[in-house]
Amino acid sequence: MSKKLIKEVKQSFEKQFRTEPILVFSPGRINLIGEHTDYNDGFVFPAAINKGIGLAIQQSSYNTSKVSALNKDESFEFSLDDIKPVENGGWRNYILGVISELQNLGLKIGNFNSVFAGDIPGGAGMSSSAALENSFVYGLNTLFDLGLSKAEMILVSQKAEHNYAGVKCGIMDQYASMFGVKKSALLLDCRTVASEPFKIDFGDYRLMLINTNVKHDLSESAYNDRRSVCEMVSEKLNIKALRDATLEDLDTLKPEITEADYQKASYVIEENNRVQLFSKAIKEHDLEALGALLYQSHDGLSNKFKVSCVELDFLVQEAKQNKNVLGARMMGGGFGGCTINLILKHDFKKFKKEVSKKFQSEFGRSCSVYGVKLSQGTHLVN
Ligand code: GLA
Repeated sequence: MSKKLIKEVKQSFEKQFRTEPILVFSPGRINLIGEHTDYNDGFVFPAAINKGIGLAIQQSSYNTSKVSALNKDESFEFSLDDIKPVENGGWRNYILGVISELQNLGLKIGNFNSVFAGDIPGGAGMSSSAALENSFVYGLNTLFDLGLSKAEMILVSQKAEHNYAGVKCGIMDQYASMFGVKKSALLLDCRTVASEPFKIDFGDYRLMLINTNVKHDLSESAYNDRRSVCEMVSEKLNIKALRDATLEDLDTLKPEITEADYQKASYVIEENNRVQLFSKAIKEHDLEALGALLYQSHDGLSNKFKVSCVELDFLVQEAKQNKNVLGARMMGGGFGGCTINLILKHDFKKFKKEVSKKFQSEFGRSCSVYGVKLSQGTHLVN
C-alpha cells in the first residue's frame, strides 16, 4: 500500500470537508493462473498487490452525497433517493452500483462525503474496478454499521459490476482484492468461494508484469460472449458449470456445437486442470513446471479461447526467446492489459530494457514494466 496515496486522499478530504474521515485501502490483483475459469465454478490463483485504491470517507449531514476522484480531478454529487447508472459515467457507475446493491439488500445508508485516488495503471487488467467497488462497500459498511461480512461485501461488488458496468464477471477480482494475504497467492475454489493461501517464494525467480498499455474496445462484449458460450455448453451437457465436465464429456457434444465453441469449452476444462497442476508444482517448488503451465495457459487463451491480441502475443513470444524467462502468459480478461512473466531475478532489468525497445519498434508506442508485491486485502488504515 502506498502511504503517499492515503496521505493525499486524507489531506484532500480534510481540506474539502473540514472533518476527519475514515481511511480504507483496497488493492488490485494479479492472477498466477486460471483465466476465465471463475464464472465456470472453477479454480483460480490470484493475489492482492501493493497497488490499489485509497478512500477517505465520512458521514455527511447534507441531503446529498459527494465523491471526488482525485486523479481525475472530477467530482460527483447525487441523491441517495434516486440511484441509477449514469450514461458513460465511467468510475461513477462502480460506486453507484455498490450503493444500489446495498439498497437492494434493504440496508440503509446515510449521506456521505468521500475522496478516492488510485495507483493501479488503468486498463492494465489489474482490477482497478474491483478495488474501487470494494473500497466503497467496505467504507460504507464500516461507516453505517451495516454488519456485512467480507464474503457478503464481495457479492455486492460483483453485482455492481454486473448491473452497473454491464460486465458479467466472476468472483475472482473482488475476492482477491478483499481477502488478499501478504506474500501469498490464494488458490480459490469459485464454487465454494473458499481459498487456501500459498506463500509465494520463487527463489531466484520473480514475477514481472508487462503492460501493453492497450485495451481493445471489444473486451466487454467479448467477455460476456465467452461466458454465454460456456453456459450454453454446460446446459447441453446437463451440468451446472464447465467445472463439472471432462474433455471426454465435451467430446460427446462435438456433432452439436461449432468447432469454435468446442475449442473454447475445451480451453476452460484444460485451464481448470492447469490450476491444480500449478498448485502442486508450487508445493514441490518445481519452477520449470510452473513456467510450462504459464505458456500452455497463454496458448489456450490465444488460440482456443481467443481472448488475446497481437500486443500480448508479441510479449509472450519475446519471453519465449529468453531462456531466463521460465513462463509467461496474458493475464485477466484479455484484449489488452498485461502479461505475467516468471523471470530470473538477475535478468529483470536487462529483459525490461530489451523488451521495451522491441515493443516500441514493433508497435510505435511503449509498454510498461512492473514488479509486484503480494499484499493484504481491503482494510482500514489508521
Ligand atoms: C476479469 C473478470 C474476472 C475473470 C477474469 C478472467 O478480470 O472480472 O471475473 O473472469 O476477467 O479470468
